[in-house]
Amino acid sequence: MRLGVLTGGGDCPGLNAVIRAVVHRSIKGYGWSVVGFRHGWRGLLQSEIEELDLKAVSGILPRGGTILGTSRTNPYQDPGGEARIRDELKLRAVDVLIVIGGEDTLGVAVKLHEAGVRLVGIPKTIDNDVNGTDYTFGFDTALSIATEAIDRLHTTAESHDRVIVVEVMGRHAGWIALEAGVAGGADMILIPEYPVSVEEVCGVVQRRHEHGKNFSIIVVAEGARLQDTEGGPVEVQSERRDAFGHVRLGGIGATLADRIEERTGFESRYSVLGHIQRGGSPTAFDRFLGTRFGVKAVDLVQREGFGRMVAIRGMKIVDVPIVEGVGSLKTVDREFYELAKVFFS
Ligand code: F6P
Repeated sequence: MRLGVLTGGGDCPGLNAVIRAVVHRSIKGYGWSVVGFRHGWRGLLQSEIEELDLKAVSGILPRGGTILGTSRTNPYQDPGGEARIRDELKLRAVDVLIVIGGEDTLGVAVKLHEAGVRLVGIPKTIDNDVNGTDYTFGFDTALSIATEAIDRLHTTAESHDRVIVVEVMGRHAGWIALEAGVAGGADMILIPEYPVSVEEVCGVVQRRHEHGKNFSIIVVAEGARLQDTEGGPVEVQSERRDAFGHVRLGGIGATLADRIEERTGFESRYSVLGHIQRGGSPTAFDRFLGTRFGVKAVDLVQREGFGRMVAIRGMKIVDVPIVEGVGSLKTVDREFYELAKVFFS
């Protein structure tokens, strides 16, 4: 048996742990060989391939990013894309594909599987918004980075009597904002799922001043909208769409800081954490989860569980149809948001 593996979409700490686990399990557990396609689906379309043996994955466990490279290539943008992928798999004698990605990459996997390609999926995203799994690797690392940043911003906000708005990643789901915000003791958290008005945010800042706190930390997810603009567009850095139709988000932090200063008169600044949240070495949690996913994905191939992806439910690694992971996103539910609200000032 010969496996092909690819990583697609935004990179994510823990991807190398997954690749390493896939290679070890395949070679040592089953005597199979593994090749990697570089830059996600682009590697299959453009024949960018490399042999993955034990030596190729040696030393990669603590490394951030992905040794295979990644891209947001969508093979279905090109009418001949699917056929080219089939031809490439045949040419390279790849029997089964292991697809590591988020909703877009896994969405392509669903279509290919329906077209008869044998594959299994591994969910990945720092946003933690893939359905069907409690966690995706990368999220814990992003959370730790965002929490540390909030801690750091706290001390400077306090020294200068400033409001600091921290913009974190989270296109459709506010998991990073919510959990890092709670862990970092934010005074208010804005997420895409539950819009609030500028008045409410200013009310929080004002109340803190009345109670003798001259600084505030507001955490906002990049995809959050203000209630005043609900139905309006999210703040975007660039209208240019990627191959899956996503615009580049960013700007809500700056807008919010401006509005707070305008309305309350308190000096306000903002900080955009951006890709810092995605870079660098994965936490132990993400290395371990990625390793478990990698090993179980190879076992899933052995059981011929094609069209399915590995997932974590509670403490257990299970597998579910990939389509369950991509039909809709796992957004923050009311219970989590209510918990965060307990700490809003
Ligand atoms: O999907 C993960 C994510 O990090 C989102 O939170 C963010 O909006 C997006 O990727 C950024 O993508 P890119 O690196 O392509 O700008």
